[in-house]
Amino acid sequence: MGEVDEAFVQALEHRPKLSVTEAEGIPLIDLSALSAANTNIKNPDSTIRDLVVDIGNACKNWGFFQVINHGVPSDKRRSLENMARKFFEQPLEEKRKVRRDEKKVVGYYDTEHTKNVRDWKEVFDFVVKSPCLMPASSDPEDKEIAETYNQWPDYPPEFREVCEEYAKEVEKLAYKLMELIALSLGLPPDSFNGFFKDQTTFVRLNHYPPCPAPHLALGVGRHKDAGALTVLAQDDVGGLEVKRKSDGEWVRVKPTPDAYIINVGDIIQVWSNDAYESVEHRVMVNSEKERFSIPFFFFPSHYTMVKPLDELTNEQNPAKYRAYSWGKFLTTRKGSNFKKLDVENVQIYHFRVQELADKLERALSINSK
Ligand code: OGA
Ligand code: NI
Repeated sequence: MGEVDEAFVQALEHRPKLSVTEAEGIPLIDLSALSAANTNIKNPDSTIRDLVVDIGNACKNWGFFQVINHGVPSDKRRSLENMARKFFEQPLEEKRKVRRDEKKVVGYYDTEHTKNVRDWKEVFDFVVKSPCLMPASSDPEDKEIAETYNQWPDYPPEFREVCEEYAKEVEKLAYKLMELIALSLGLPPDSFNGFFKDQTTFVRLNHYPPCPAPHLALGVGRHKDAGALTVLAQDDVGGLEVKRKSDGEWVRVKPTPDAYIINVGDIIQVWSNDAYESVEHRVMVNSEKERFSIPFFFFPSHYTMVKPLDELTNEQNPAKYRAYSWGKFLTTRKGSNFKKLDVENVQIYHFRVQELADKLERALSINSK
């Protein structure tokens, strides 16, 4: 192979095609109706009702969409993009001063693995609500709760302030989107708000350096986002690809200046009992240009037991998932993203009712042999 370390090389079937499909793209949704002076989401007028229909269709058919006129001031985003560029330009030993490790769960690191293949990227993570409360370990019996504090670098100055201001703005957008999604499922708009009281949300600054072997490695391997919703800012380089639901093709998300890319995460899939599915995506790298992106991962409180909402299940449509603890799910994931594992990472389908029934059946048939 020679060109990149073997740890980065994707299995044949997961390597990207260098010719890009930019066929029918993900929906583009204009949120200006939300900021109109007389908007009242509790008593939606016809423009809001149209918007809700569009959001519902985008969630159902794509799991991904872009929003414009979203209310996040573009200068806040520009400032953070500049900070990210300056931070990542530093020598590795400087960045490693705020390195993430098994104890400090946020900060800088460059060794993330997705499905056991190393990603061609470096990242800086910070939590939006600090301290962030999370289980101290992934052991289900261990009830200890740990407090996570952010690690802020000395350089660039104002890094912390810019990060915090940005997060505050995007958080408002995330709540608005959850309200629209609730309405689209026929629920009161504030149905999800309570889950985020002690949110475990974090923001990630992603830097994808140019890669000598973009046909072998990926910036982020194929995955689904584990949280409720992701609100992603990407720069103008491009590289994000989404697995289109209609035909399973990987399609490129074309950068739209100042837009946000929104995707449904695993938690909305479970809450909606599969009405809205979390969709696989990945990031291609290229040999010439570096790329930056900033996802905001909207995560509920650690003590949330994630399960299909009662209002969305009934005898004809019984709950497809057993309840699982978000905090334990997250700590299990965080621990395993560090290193190559021999076992598969925890996934929501492990909590599928059918999956559990099959397992039980297998266990029983083994025991009776
Ligand atoms: C992620 C992700 C996409 C991108 O970090 O989970 O999907 O464009 N990032 O960086
Ligand atoms: Ni993702």
